[in-house]
Amino acid sequence: MTSRPQPLTVPAPSLARVTKQPAGHRPADLDTSVFLADMIAGLSKSPKQTSPKYFYDARGSALFEQIMELPEYYPTRTEMGILSAHAEDLADFCGPNCLLVEPGAGNLAKVRLFLKNLRSPAGFIPLDVSGIHLSQATHGLRLEQPGLKVLPVCADFTAGFSLPQVPSDRKVVFFPGSTLGNFEPHEANRLLASFAQVAGKNGGIILGVDLRKHPSILVPAYDDAQGVTAAFNKNLLFRMREELGAELDPDRFSHRALYNEELGRVEMHLVSTVRQTIQLGRHIFQLKAGETIHTENSYKQDLAELVARCESLGLRAERILTDSRQWFAVLCLSVGKTA
Ligand code: AVJ
Repeated sequence: MTSRPQPLTVPAPSLARVTKQPAGHRPADLDTSVFLADMIAGLSKSPKQTSPKYFYDARGSALFEQIMELPEYYPTRTEMGILSAHAEDLADFCGPNCLLVEPGAGNLAKVRLFLKNLRSPAGFIPLDVSGIHLSQATHGLRLEQPGLKVLPVCADFTAGFSLPQVPSDRKVVFFPGSTLGNFEPHEANRLLASFAQVAGKNGGIILGVDLRKHPSILVPAYDDAQGVTAAFNKNLLFRMREELGAELDPDRFSHRALYNEELGRVEMHLVSTVRQTIQLGRHIFQLKAGETIHTENSYKQDLAELVARCESLGLRAERILTDSRQWFAVLCLSVGKTA
């Protein structure tokens, strides 16, 4: 007899980007009213700054898939190289009867690289904001691995989420793709702490992070020759126009990527090429020629610093896996008793 999975509520990690969903809406939907409120708040800031999570509608997700194939965009293929070379190490770290949870799972390409290596896994829980993407990806995985219990959850992992309860010996949160780099350091700490809470005592986190390197490598990765990243960045303007009825001219903005050496992050901006306005609902935002909307930060980690930070959160780095150029790292972190 199987008992119905009981939802286990994980408290919201109280991140700055947390969006509260109005009652009666599907819990994971980044719905229009929240999108609108966030854009108004972002454009009201000085300097203007918006959240990168709004890049990922169907078009934005498709553009991101293209970015991952770009010759300049090294992170995805570097990380996938590490995951496949160390599939056995990752399976060892997870141990037998492990429940694997992946926040922001996307197309599941990365987890596939070591899922087959797991010893009698208890199950796999992919979480994603895009329900359609999630069910498509999950369907494919179920066909490939019919023995595996796959329990998709449609959720925004920055807003706190519920997990189906699955009996297991150990929970491991898989957070690849250097997604951590999209968060301010203090937000990243809270996010890691919330993952540690999900994993619980004896649990683990497998964390993929992009490392610091020369700007001549970093900048082209975010400003490719084909202009795919520019289109990805500008997609935010198209979404504002199409979904929020904003009055703006996407052609009067250009894409800019730069490496902020002091803060160790790649920044993406939309530069207003002329003096212009964006009208959004009752709001009119003025932009000077050359003024930017800061649309994304992608923090690059110093490995020693990150390991120390993890330790201060009660996360012990059991294994640090990296590539021959030390461009990217995958950390296997154990949740200690203090977490
Ligand atoms: C999905 C956050 C890891 O920062 O490299 C790619 C997003 N932005 N090109 C990154 C992104 C521009 C990506 N992450």
